[in-house]
Amino acid sequence: MRSLLTLALLAVLANVAFADEIKRRPGEDEIKVVALTRKDPVVYEKDIEPILLNKCSVCHSGNVKEGRFDVSSYEEMIKGGKHGKSVEAGKSEQSLLYKLARKMQKPFMPPRSEEPLTPQELATIKLWIDQGAKPPTGMREKTKVIVQQPSADVHPVRGVAISPDKTLVIAARGNQIHVYDAKEGKYLRSLIDPKLVGVDGKPIKAAHISLVESLAYSPDGKTIASGSFQEVTLWDAASGAVKQKLTGFSERVVALAYSKDGKYLATGGGAPTEDGEIKLFEGATGKLVVDIKNGHSDTVFGVCFSPDGTKLATCGADKFVKTFEVPSGKFIKAFEGHTHHVLGVGWKNDGKMLASGGADNVVKIWDFEKGEQVRTINNAHTKQVTMLVFVGTTTQFATCSGDKQVRFWNVDNGGNTRNLQGNNDFLYALAVSSDGTLAAVGGEEGVVRLYNATNGQVLKTLQPPEVK
Ligand code: HEC
Repeated sequence: MRSLLTLALLAVLANVAFADEIKRRPGEDEIKVVALTRKDPVVYEKDIEPILLNKCSVCHSGNVKEGRFDVSSYEEMIKGGKHGKSVEAGKSEQSLLYKLARKMQKPFMPPRSEEPLTPQELATIKLWIDQGAKPPTGMREKTKVIVQQPSADVHPVRGVAISPDKTLVIAARGNQIHVYDAKEGKYLRSLIDPKLVGVDGKPIKAAHISLVESLAYSPDGKTIASGSFQEVTLWDAASGAVKQKLTGFSERVVALAYSKDGKYLATGGGAPTEDGEIKLFEGATGKLVVDIKNGHSDTVFGVCFSPDGTKLATCGADKFVKTFEVPSGKFIKAFEGHTHHVLGVGWKNDGKMLASGGADNVVKIWDFEKGEQVRTINNAHTKQVTMLVFVGTTTQFATCSGDKQVRFWNVDNGGNTRNLQGNNDFLYALAVSSDGTLAAVGGEEGVVRLYNATNGQVLKTLQPPEVK
């Protein structure tokens, strides 16, 4: 009896000591454990998935998988991240996901900048784990997701574009779009959608409610297209006013491209592990031309028109590069060889070759007619290749990567012709003017570097505007 008591005492002491070790800032208290009154079993897709989508997926899905932890599917979520299993079925108190979300253990999840779980949400997750962390029942109902606004200090650059006349550079930062004078490197204005309101009914001063994931300039320079969660906004480039909103997307729109003549606008996206989404719109009217169903079996990360505008190349998380006829959307052929997500694709000026890059750190060059791989550039980068763009009508294309590098390549021989130096963090976005003289690069660091792309000199560093 006495030894039992001692043990219990020791356990209490150990707990206290453990709790003392965790440094908490104001507002970072452990979340209260509340009792749920429900009697019915917790259903993953109804009760758990919406919480993860709402509070975790910004940092744990798609291109961004912090701690290598992915909540976009049940399987990935259970598997856990770099510290292994996130959930011990039946044992919530021993489950990493629960411990971090309850703020019993560091790193607290979500991080301080974000909305924490409510005690109700936490209790639901706890009950689900204690009931055996059951997988989805398969009777999946599409849940309506309420989008959380990113917090003010999330400001990686996920999209950049250069106006066709090279006078302006635009950057997508968080849910903002910033416009800069290219010559002076000066911030000019933000694109604001005056109709945006948050869940609380208050107006939001931003371009989109959620993160801006993609940007494109129409070839005539009159329209800017931006993609975000379930929408694309077309802006009047001169006035900054909203011209039109394109809707009907199931998830984030992460890729946008105009055909060279501006006749068509293509979008790519879709929910992770579900069918990728590819849509084709009329550039001038925003009218949907075709919704290419079942093009990819997972998120589409890149879209690019052939130079003559008769075909569309796409790439996605299913490791494929595919091509489709424009405007019918009819499938032409698929290119297989990447061993991980393909994040960028481009089309050579003569329409005969394609280049693609992906999360396997590799760049591949394909012969379109033969449907074959011509070349693999192994270790093109030491981290994922996040974007790939051809340089106007030249034989060059450029890639940017998580390894902080921007590299130029010759499509005919695979040679690395030039690199742009000076970036300090993971890169997501790259644009090169059609004459190949100006390049804009952005990423996790939050700044955009403008380069003289012919000699690699940094011309300007575009800083985020002062937040008023
Ligand atoms: C704003 C970004 C952000 C949000 C939102 C976020 N996380 Fe994280 N998460 C991170 C980062 C960054 C790490 C890596 C931390 C580290 O390694 O120190 C991480 C790591 C984790 C890990 C550890 C993975 C491993 O094995 O190392 C788990 C589990 C996790 N998060 C769960 C969650 C859950 C659950 C939510 C939602 C309730 C959430 N996170 C929301 C940024 C985020």
